[in-house]
Amino acid sequence: MSLPKAELHLHIEGTLEPELAFELAARNGVTLPYADTDELREAYRFEDLQSFLNLYYELMAVLRTERDFEDLANAYLARAAAQGVRHAEIFFDPQAHTSRGLGIGTVVEGLWRALGNSEADHGVSTRLILCFLRDESAESALATLDAAKPYLDRITGVGLDSAEVGHPPVKFREVYEAAAALGLRRVAHAGEEGPPEYITEALDVLGVERVDHGLRCVEDPALVERLVRDRVPLTLCPLSNVRLRTVDTLADHPLPAMLDAGLMCTVNSDDPAYFGGYAGDNFDAVRATLGLTEERLRELARNSFLASFLEDDEERRAR
Ligand code: ADE
Ligand code: ZN
Repeated sequence: MSLPKAELHLHIEGTLEPELAFELAARNGVTLPYADTDELREAYRFEDLQSFLNLYYELMAVLRTERDFEDLANAYLARAAAQGVRHAEIFFDPQAHTSRGLGIGTVVEGLWRALGNSEADHGVSTRLILCFLRDESAESALATLDAAKPYLDRITGVGLDSAEVGHPPVKFREVYEAAAALGLRRVAHAGEEGPPEYITEALDVLGVERVDHGLRCVEDPALVERLVRDRVPLTLCPLSNVRLRTVDTLADHPLPAMLDAGLMCTVNSDDPAYFGGYAGDNFDAVRATLGLTEERLRELARNSFLASFLEDDEERRAR
């Protein structure tokens, strides 16, 4: 669906389509343990977040040069633009690349080759958000922020992703304080698989302005009340939730109830190459399966711009 919208929850590494993965593997002399794209797609049956993350990190082996990151980002931006995305706030996972021997500069410079020209090339404005891997140490997160310092003119904010349960937000208090002192915006995944308490902690300890997913807030009425009162945006990803089995089926997704409760919801794609759809596909799916009215869909699109890190004048222009 081509309703103008902003995408606020998108992992650039999660946009690696099987065809591009094989193309980059050939370009870089990397052997993938799959015969072809069909066999790779067969592996896209996930039990939970961890089973997805295993494949997500494995396939990153094909990303080696600035040009690879540029090609990855351009492929995403073209697809997003075709589905009505006018603005994209894009996560990247530097530790998943530096742990393989790449410099963070290769990643940022490569992505920027695409993002820096995206308004002209795709009609999509962009922001870049550096995510810390929460299943790595707090020290590693601090070292990553330090390594990113030469590139902060291109980085708008920090986020927190990867395996959630057992890695509460409080583990990253220090690096979020350091990021805030550098003037970076703050978001974090919370309440995807982890409990509602992680959402509260992300707000109180990390000072996040948006909660990525935040789905499990529905288990805690007092937390819902707080999120409604403070207009805290939630970046929901319905097709991701189905594929990672955080909801049984799309028909069971609590999005309509969350909107009825007054929560500031947005709809996003998370890792579209893996979860069966880009931002517009997620809008189409919730419209078809959850019966959202046109007014609700417009509310979701409006929320996406309001919850973005665009300045007011940019935001008005984008929508
Ligand atoms: N990294 C990429 N996609 C993710 C997700 N849905 N949750 C946590 N970490 C991720
Ligand atoms: Zn995510």
